[in-house]
Amino acid sequence: MPKPIPPKVLSGLKRQSNQELNAAHGYLAMSIWCSVQNLKGFARFFAKQADEEREHAAKIIDHLINRGVPPELEALPAPKQDFPALLDLVQHAEAMEQANTQGIDAVFTAALVENDFPAQVLMHWFINEQVEEEAWAAELVDRVKHASCAGSLSDLDRHVEKLLADDGGKED
Ligand code: FEO
Repeated sequence: MPKPIPPKVLSGLKRQSNQELNAAHGYLAMSIWCSVQNLKGFARFFAKQADEEREHAAKIIDHLINRGVPPELEALPAPKQDFPALLDLVQHAEAMEQANTQGIDAVFTAALVENDFPAQVLMHWFINEQVEEEAWAAELVDRVKHASCAGSLSDLDRHVEKLLADDGGKED
């Protein structure tokens, strides 16, 4: 039987699995907004992010199951789906990633305090992933800020997946 998960680590892992699902829901809403605006490259990019967030949640869920704890899925709040402009949307994505990093850091801190080695190792993967996630989000904000005219925004939309993949390995 695996060693029990300390209560503070357990509550952090459960909360974080739901935060990842919440992020998936948020990115799906962003993908839909971009589709409606005919920003098809951005729509594909955020749809992929939604898939990635579900994979992140699955990693934590598997960890809980392997350690003998049933995961608990919570109701997801409606994501933000109204954006005045693309810049507001990408800034929201950046804020979501920053909040996600805080959630990961909180789980890791609890795992350190409680000497929970398996959760520490799991969180190493997430800590590294958040460096990439925050990097593409910051780059996206910067690139959208500089695409001021309609022509440059269309150009960015056509190339956004490749641009971010070249820098951060986000594309398959
Ligand atoms: Fe699961 Fe975007 O971090």
